Amino acid sequence: MASGLNMEQRGYERRRARGYLVGCVLAVLLWRVASAQIRYSVSEEVNEGTVVGNVAKDLGLDKSTLKDRKYRIVSSNADPLFHVNQNDGILYVSRKIDREEVCAQSSTCLINLKTVLENPLEVHYVRVEVLDINDHSPTFADEEQILEISESVLPGVRFPLQHARDPDGGPFSVQQYKLSPNDYFRLEVKDKGEDGKIPILVVQKSLDREAAGSHSLVLTALDGGKPPKSGDINIIVNVLDINDNAPVFTTDVYSVMLDENAPVGTTVIQVNATDSDEGPNGEVVYSFSSIVNRRLLNLFDIDPSTGKMTVKGLIDYEEKDRYEIEIQASDKGLAPLTSQKSVIIKIVDVNDNPPEIEVTSFSNSIPEDSRPGTTVALISVNDLDSGL
Ligand SMILES: *[C@@H]1O[C@H](CO)[C@@H](O)[C@H](O)[C@H]1NC(C)=O
Repeated sequence: MASGLNMEQRGYERRRARGYLVGCVLAVLLWRVASAQIRYSVSEEVNEGTVVGNVAKDLGLDKSTLKDRKYRIVSSNADPLFHVNQNDGILYVSRKIDREEVCAQSSTCLINLKTVLENPLEVHYVRVEVLDINDHSPTFADEEQILEISESVLPGVRFPLQHARDPDGGPFSVQQYKLSPNDYFRLEVKDKGEDGKIPILVVQKSLDREAAGSHSLVLTALDGGKPPKSGDINIIVNVLDINDNAPVFTTDVYSVMLDENAPVGTTVIQVNATDSDEGPNGEVVYSFSSIVNRRLLNLFDIDPSTGKMTVKGLIDYEEKDRYEIEIQASDKGLAPLTSQKSVIIKIVDVNDNPPEIEVTSFSNSIPEDSRPGTTVALISVNDLDSGL
């Protein structure tokens, strides 16, 4: 109160103050009632200038006095969301409201406005609820998530996936996840309440790197809008190899003809085995099986890396016309896997032996009157070669 007032004025002021106090109590009582009544709602993202409500009418204020009484919203915000027009007493939106910016993730977004009138001073509270619209789609932090899973994992093993975020609140936040259809994986969604939902990839069927070295999946997050908005992330699963495959010979039966006396170094046959594992698990080395007769090791050789079998010693048909040799292919895994196969070598006779004549019995002299047909000598001719 200003100083220098005379007694009469003071008395007036006192009475007025008393009246004001009563008014205040009444106002508080009324406000209690009124505060429950003056509540508006407006959707986020509406245009600037959208009408929120007719405050003057709803508070029972005389429109014509608003200007004189400087009706306004008291706000510390430099860039307020709402303003009242003193001419029509209507509450307007001052700028676009992003609910997620104003209220973050809370389920209801209420803004309390304090409006004041001067002469006499009146304070009225107005609550505006900002309604959420589904203005955001779920998004993942990355475009792609890469998982490395050993092919030895058993069905049922779980791998957490990246979760999506959606700034919208309540039903417009992320509600569900979907995984692109595939035979090897299924999706489980763990509901962590306030913290949202976590998608989990579950191995459903044994992974076989040799059947599929990697899997490309799409995880989709959906919010609860109608229609829902969605966001995707690519899930790449790389299957890590274990040594689960033995080398396999590309031919069922190895059978070959070889001339006897073939020069040392002659190629007999080239065997080939493949191993579908990766790296050392899939590198093949060839050798003779441990059960092969020592003697054969002097006749034949096999190149460990090419599988080429060559002649190493003298091949003599007359000594042996058919060989059956066990060879093996092993991979270079830590615990190598091995396959075995027989190579059948048929030796072709070449005409390398002259006929040999053997006189079994011989008569030194024969009588002059010997009859035709009389045996003179017994000779046998033998050739070590066969056939012609
Ligand atoms: C072995 O067989 C595989 C598959 O048939 C083939 O790709 C490869 O070239 C063969 N290797 C040789 C040395 O013949």
